[in-house]
Amino acid sequence: MSQSNLRVLIPADRIQARIKELGAQIAADYPEGNLFLLGILKGAFVFLSDLARAIERPVKIDFIGISSYGKGKTSSGEVKLTRDLDSTIEGADVLVVEDIVDSGVTLTYLVHVLEQRRPRSIRIAALLDKPERRKATVKVDYVGFQIPDEFVIGYGLDFAEDYRNLRDVCVLEQD
Ligand code: IMP
Ligand code: MG
Repeated sequence: MSQSNLRVLIPADRIQARIKELGAQIAADYPEGNLFLLGILKGAFVFLSDLARAIERPVKIDFIGISSYGKGKTSSGEVKLTRDLDSTIEGADVLVVEDIVDSGVTLTYLVHVLEQRRPRSIRIAALLDKPERRKATVKVDYVGFQIPDEFVIGYGLDFAEDYRNLRDVCVLEQD
């Protein structure tokens, strides 16, 4: 796995500092806690684990699997549920935790699916946002960083399943 074509976009220390701020903001918005953190597999697993510890309130955690990208760098446009939640979200305050919002198609689909299960509220937290690429309108309540239209990997994000364990968010340059 060559790393010569990686350029650091957001270094690990900036990511951690921003997640502390987001955690404090979320804790203030849900003073009683009892939030249901719902991570989207697989990309959000690193962000979810740091964000959950930055929210100093009682939370529950579950994961849902959605696939839209296949093995390339662009979405197939087709979204499917690959793993459902273990628990019911009826009556819960749900915070969907996502790695990156790109076209917005994935989150629009997921919110539609979740609304049918009658949660009390649904909000969205995304580490990264590429607003230039939006095709579907989606309200992201907590955004870590807005980034330009470049393909990024690391901190949970992959290219063909590689690079998820990097601490920094990096741009994958064209060869
Ligand atoms: P959307 O449906 O186009 O908003 O796509 C969101 C999903 O595409 C994210 O959950 C990521 O899994 C993936 N994705 C979008 N942009 C990138 C990127 O730059 N690097 C890695 N994965 C990405
Ligand atoms: Mg994803």
